[in-house]
Amino acid sequence: MTKLLLDVDTGIDDSIALLYLLGSPEAEILGISCTAGNVSARQVAINNLAWLELCGAGPIEVCLGSEIPLIQPLKTSPETHGPQGIGWAELPAPSREISARHAVNLWSEVARRQPGEVVGLVTGPLTNLALAVRTDPELPRLLRRLVVMGGSFDHPGNTTPTAEWNIAVDPDAAKIVFDAFSGLPADQQPIICGLNITETIALAPAQLARLAEAAGSTPVETPSPDEPVGARSAASNPLVRHVVDAMRFYFEFHRDWNWGWFAHLHDPFAAAVALDPDWAELRPATVDVELAGALTRGTTIADWGGKWGREPNAWVAIRTDPERFFDQLIDRIGGLARRLPGATTETAD
Ligand code: RIB
Ligand code: CA
Repeated sequence: MTKLLLDVDTGIDDSIALLYLLGSPEAEILGISCTAGNVSARQVAINNLAWLELCGAGPIEVCLGSEIPLIQPLKTSPETHGPQGIGWAELPAPSREISARHAVNLWSEVARRQPGEVVGLVTGPLTNLALAVRTDPELPRLLRRLVVMGGSFDHPGNTTPTAEWNIAVDPDAAKIVFDAFSGLPADQQPIICGLNITETIALAPAQLARLAEAAGSTPVETPSPDEPVGARSAASNPLVRHVVDAMRFYFEFHRDWNWGWFAHLHDPFAAAVALDPDWAELRPATVDVELAGALTRGTTIADWGGKWGREPNAWVAIRTDPERFFDQLIDRIGGLARRLPGATTETAD
């Protein structure tokens, strides 16, 4: 089993990452820390509670963290993930409650309870993790490993010309984290999945049809750009229906920004790497974050060749096999959908 502590800004792709992990038999989610980013921290928490309840997941603790970045004002992205952060999906309101424990305490107490065993997976801004390492400087050494979806290496940004969203929302936090995780043994150094690799994970609508088939859901739908904006799925399986509704919003966003009718699954890929780093070819580098640049604040830089005279502090994911990843994503979320409480499948036994 891989024990995981998630820190998320759920978000459409954060949602798919959570479903992937819930569908992964080797994943044990010890807790979820919610950080402001795509939407407010409170909405992030509600989204996670709602997905967990829909999936009939166990009592996974969902904690609120900082509602704002360390220094700069909060910027959210309703245009990318929808006003509630889950696209067009309208999940049943959760009956489960947000934990009274602060996310910073979740990080430290979970890591201290099982030193060297917990993999941290951050798929949102690094605000909470920065506060956690400030509170407990031993945290980096107490974790088995950290995997971050963030940054962009030798590749354009998606928030500024050079900066990626999770880092751009709170660059000061990212700097604190990269510095705090420097000097660790190589096999404990963070793995960073930047846009350079996550923008190769482009989910096409046909993959959603495959998901419906894997879930035994009908009708099998392939969302089309010719359908009205906000058209809702009629899938018989509730999980498939909500995923299709969420992803349609993401397809519309990618089309509106002239990418095309598909969606980059940044966070689910980082989740796969957290369970098995072999998903990516990794390259050592000294990674740092620009804080002062008028045009480049929030930009991540990888010093591949030691020009700064500093030891490598991270492993940058540089290559993967997207099709093999989609096969596993569909298999695992399709299986989760089939097992949903009350789900009916076309091939009822
Ligand atoms: O830049 C992509 C990242 O920003 C993803 O984690 C997405 O959810 C947003 O948080
Ligand atoms: Ca995210």
